[in-house]
Amino acid sequence: MRLAMTKLIALLAGDGIGPEVTGEARRVLDALALDLAFEEAEVGGAAYRAHGHPLPPETVALAQRADAVLFGAVGDPAFDALDRALRPEQAILGLRKALSTFANLRPARGFPGLEEASTLKPEIARAIDLVIVRELNGDVYFGDKGRRTTDAGLREGHDLMRYDEAEVRRIAHVGFRTARTRSGRLCSVDKANVLETSQLWRDVVIEVAADYADVELTHMYVDNAAMQLVRNPAAFDTIVTGNLFGDILSDQASMCVGSIGMLPSASLDADGKGLYEPIHGSAPDIAGQGKANPCAAILSAAMMLRHSLGEAAAADRIEAAVATAIRGGMRTPDLGGTATTRAMGDAVLAAL
Ligand code: IPM
Ligand code: MG
Repeated sequence: MRLAMTKLIALLAGDGIGPEVTGEARRVLDALALDLAFEEAEVGGAAYRAHGHPLPPETVALAQRADAVLFGAVGDPAFDALDRALRPEQAILGLRKALSTFANLRPARGFPGLEEASTLKPEIARAIDLVIVRELNGDVYFGDKGRRTTDAGLREGHDLMRYDEAEVRRIAHVGFRTARTRSGRLCSVDKANVLETSQLWRDVVIEVAADYADVELTHMYVDNAAMQLVRNPAAFDTIVTGNLFGDILSDQASMCVGSIGMLPSASLDADGKGLYEPIHGSAPDIAGQGKANPCAAILSAAMMLRHSLGEAAAADRIEAAVATAIRGGMRTPDLGGTATTRAMGDAVLAAL
């Protein structure tokens, strides 16, 4: 039996490179000798193989019971032809809903020594230090969707984009509070020149701004934001945006830094309980070959310590160790090197 002080971590490794990268994150957590207990469950394609569903009830129950969830990745091309409801990706979407983790924090920071891995000029890549606060429980991801045949006999698909004001308000508050802990600048990204959902978003964000006189609020259309992110990413501090725009802009931000293999994320509910995952996917093309970069998973574990487990000092140590490993020249293939997943994990452990 675990003691009341012991924190329970649900370890959901998932598909593709998920098990490899979360394995390294687990080694780093173990090395810190904190009072953590781990319980594993299947998720995604792995769960479909074993249980006929990508998100079995036992996995949801474990995630709900745990103090935090450490998640790998889901996605397996073997299941692309299945009904959407049974595809591996539904597991992460279902977990985000089941846990009400509506606030997704995706920090992107330039790593000294990694500038060469970015396609941007080194001095531009080096200066990146931003966080994307992505709404995670609504938008076109969760609106009504379907197919039909039109009167003209054409196949038609639709996905409803929607937000109500309460959903916008709660993520706006997270955006403002996040900006407050940083440089005090918040940029809300929308497409209010075309979308009614975005106009509501903008109206509500402006209302919420009244509570945060110390935060400087700007608004930007998403197409312009995509452009500014590659032109001058250092101009951004905190970005708050909807689910779809946040999905796209966070992949883009990761490439500005140098690799999607470096970016962690935290998905938080209203009480600070969270699910922590790299922003990268399952990368089936390199799965099982020891080529995956475990840094995003290791940094996700650091975010877990900070946001859900009250272990900020341990989180700092992990982040510093990753920076040291990178500065020391350790490079997995995504960063232009030949180091294995395990070697990168070893380098982080050595630097701890
Ligand atoms: C992400 C991923 C997911 C998303 C997929 C796997 C459903 O791209 O976490 O960014 O679109 O949210
Ligand atoms: Mg994505």
